[in-house]
Amino acid sequence: MSAEPRQAIRTVWVLNGPNLGRLGSREPEIYGHVDEAGLRGLVATWGEAVGVAVRLRQTDDEAQLIEWLHEAADGAVPVILNPAAFTHYSYAVRDAVADLTARGVPLIEVHLSNPASREAFRQVSVISEVASGTIAGFGVDSYRLALVALAGT
Ligand code: DQA
Repeated sequence: MSAEPRQAIRTVWVLNGPNLGRLGSREPEIYGHVDEAGLRGLVATWGEAVGVAVRLRQTDDEAQLIEWLHEAADGAVPVILNPAAFTHYSYAVRDAVADLTARGVPLIEVHLSNPASREAFRQVSVISEVASGTIAGFGVDSYRLALVALAGT
């Protein structure tokens, strides 16, 4: 009997940007009622269903977010990124995302709301052009859809 080598479980990082630590209580009519702990549980469950281990981290700090993106690029770790307000103006986050995707590491930009249907300043994403894809407008389900998409990459 030949033993098949066991496939290493793939890890995906979920990186959430500023103010997303306040999920559940922050403008719930826009961002929903699931808090960060709830989202952490959901992405773990959804990850299991598609065979990936998920690590969720959140920061309000642009430098921290960029450092995590560098780590993901160096470790070839696929990323689901909700850049939050950085979406609309951070060329520094964009450059870090571009560095990662240029190495062939997939990164999906996600949003809970649909920024395209909101204020004018939210209708610009400086990230989308360098992301592998974007999923927006499905509440926390945006993260599930991104996991399904990444599992197929
Ligand atoms: C967001 C949309 C952004 O415009 C906003 O700044 C956020 C959250 C979303 O998930 O819908 O903080 O990225």
